[in-house]
Amino acid sequence: MNLLTLADAQDVCARLPPEIRFDLVYLDPPYGVGTTMSARLAPGQTRGSKKLDSGPDAYEDREDGDELLAMLVPRLAAIRERMAVGATLYLHLDHRAVHELKVACDRLFGRGAFLGEVIWAPGNGSRGARKGFSVTHQTILMYARRAEEKGLVVYNGDDPMLRESFAETSLSMHFRNVDEAGRRYRERVVGGKAYRYYADTGRRLGSIWTDIPAMVANTPLRKEGTGYPTQKPERLLERILRASSREGATVADLMCGSGTTLAVAARLGRRFVGGDRSPLAIEVASKRLSAQGVTFEAAPALVT
Ligand SMILES: C[S@@+](CC[C@H](N)C(=O)[O-])C[C@H]1O[C@@H](n2cnc3c(N)ncnc32)[C@H](O)[C@@H]1O
Repeated sequence: MNLLTLADAQDVCARLPPEIRFDLVYLDPPYGVGTTMSARLAPGQTRGSKKLDSGPDAYEDREDGDELLAMLVPRLAAIRERMAVGATLYLHLDHRAVHELKVACDRLFGRGAFLGEVIWAPGNGSRGARKGFSVTHQTILMYARRAEEKGLVVYNGDDPMLRESFAETSLSMHFRNVDEAGRRYRERVVGGKAYRYYADTGRRLGSIWTDIPAMVANTPLRKEGTGYPTQKPERLLERILRASSREGATVADLMCGSGTTLAVAARLGRRFVGGDRSPLAIEVASKRLSAQGVTFEAAPALVT
């Protein structure tokens, strides 16, 4: 059963029936920007950091680094208790808080549970007038529940969304053989055994993602845009879900905002547990899911 609730992430973890375990968690919290985030729900309104012409408030992103850490650590601990063996947590942050949270997560999950990080460059281009390099990426940290379970995490590396083309130079230098079916390949001998690699299956996707623009989620002209601030593109979540979960898995996003993770989970045949402490987030996510024909139980609100 899919579940959506207006509640603090910690309360969701505390109140769920004990048998519910998360096979994959995506958490996209506030980043410590120091502002109120507002939505664009009508033409003429602006979205993002609150201004005079902004739409309704969506959530507070006022906490400084220390407060954000103090808010997130107990919630991450509660989420970890709910993670199943083989589950991966994806924690999406930006340059403001990612370093402190990496250290905090190493303490919480164990340094050996760190699975790596993705640098997502959404193609926003240069922003702001401050000196120095413009910040054009966000960072997604990945953790197993504990170090001993690192080898058990789900990773569907053959999924086409997790493959990329070989570099042109590599193709011309190494893929010189052609098989009976006309497929280009290279052969490598490792430990006396020959392995064949086909050009058309590509190579494993790397950890720097530049092929998923934020634009598709964030302009009113695009189908998936809801007007909720900091909405993530469905393709980003699709790649994450395809990488680290199987059909029928339970996917949790307890700071779900506009419900991107939940919408993608439903489309890919996963179940979801969604929550957010913003009433506007739950309203937007509910409408979005209903418009897609997704059925879910709206659990009683724990926030008033
Ligand atoms: C960056 S937005 C998430 C955007 C979302 N990924 C999307 O695609 O729309 C962060 C969300 O975290 C929620 N939030 C912040 N603190 C929370 C908490 N303690 N419990 C539940 N939700 C929280 C906010 O209300 C906000 O909707």
